[in-house]
Amino acid sequence: MQGLERPASAGQSQGQGFGQAQAQGGRPEQHHVVIEGLAKRFGAVTVLEGLDLAIEKGEFLTLLGPSGCGKTTLLRIIAGFLDADAGRITVAGETLLGQPPHRRDFGMVFQNYAVFPHMTVFDNVAYGLRARNVPSADIGRRVERALERVRLGAFASRFPTQLSGGQKQRVGLARAIVIEPRLLLMDEPLSNLDAKLRIDMRSEIRLLQRELGITTLYVTHDQEEALAVSDRIAVLDKGRMLQVGGPKAIYDEHAHRFVADFIGNANQIAARVDGGLVHFAGGVSMPLPGAAPPAQPVTATLRPEDFRLSPSPDYTAALPVRVLLVSYLGARLRLSCELADGASLQADVDSDAIAPAAGETVSLWFNPGKVRLFSAEGWRV
Ligand SMILES: Nc1ncnc2c1ncn2[C@@H]1O[C@H](COP(=O)(O)OP(=O)(O)O)[C@@H](O)[C@H]1O
Ligand SMILES: [Mg+2]
Repeated sequence: MQGLERPASAGQSQGQGFGQAQAQGGRPEQHHVVIEGLAKRFGAVTVLEGLDLAIEKGEFLTLLGPSGCGKTTLLRIIAGFLDADAGRITVAGETLLGQPPHRRDFGMVFQNYAVFPHMTVFDNVAYGLRARNVPSADIGRRVERALERVRLGAFASRFPTQLSGGQKQRVGLARAIVIEPRLLLMDEPLSNLDAKLRIDMRSEIRLLQRELGITTLYVTHDQEEALAVSDRIAVLDKGRMLQVGGPKAIYDEHAHRFVADFIGNANQIAARVDGGLVHFAGGVSMPLPGAAPPAQPVTATLRPEDFRLSPSPDYTAALPVRVLLVSYLGARLRLSCELADGASLQADVDSDAIAPAAGETVSLWFNPGKVRLFSAEGWRV
């Protein structure tokens, strides 16, 4: 299982992740959902590559990655709409292999709502209960309760055409939770809503999930959304799982260069590690905190907000840059700069600071403890 071996550094920072369970003697069944060695190709294109992931009971786990990285494909395989080429999935120790979608007891919420247009809100939500032959006396009670939970109690007799996008998605959510699913799968449920509503609804979803304790696998390409709602985040790129960890670990202790860039747009700075020092272009060197990795070319990352225009007890290292453009962003000034090797670098500094002029050369000070180093292959060193 390549996926288990590859992210060695990811394993250290992923907390109660899958790697740890394996290390404890390979009894992955102790997790609620276990995905092992999952692979999927469409023709010559490999979409998922030996993918491993474990989800704890009651956990809100977000699958985060750019468009086309395989998120929907993974969700469709878990839901049973698509077969994998290899690998296995278990829920509470029971394999899903060969189980049709409706037997899996999963709730699913889709990006495009997928509500039935010819049915009332009530009938949309009742659908899954009727399909499971729930007695009609119970159906009324359960549908009402689900609609109240998503704040649609007064909308039961409406048709979807009489609802806003946000309300339609609430119907989708009620329909998914009313069956009391073993697993709730959500595929970019907020991406068709406007920005303000997206932020309100993500909190609603999170509160509801916590209240009901539903194990949830949530898909998004929006890193801010992922950081805001998740217990843990699994970062996917080109069908490979690069890191699984809590929001803070994903933000601060990225296991892969891609994660640093995708979450919070870290600057990527070419450097070399040699003799226990990091050497940047332009003759700047700084000592490495911690054990020195072997001599090699590396990419160092620093976020725009990691820079200041003057030194302080923590900000002890500096990079000389030429300022190309100064943009006012309210509380911050965004400096678009050029490094000694011609590479670009963005720095956000306090807008109360005395702003450098375009064309000026300045020192950008940073805390060496914020620097993360990545090998040529992209993994943390
Ligand atoms: N049925 C299919 N046939 C061929 N290629 C597909 C099919 N479904 C998805 N793909 C391809 O698989 C890759 C991953 O797609 P998808 O899982 O939808 O990504 P995401 O949801 O992360 O945007 C894309 O390159 C997409 O074009
Ligand atoms: Mg998708």
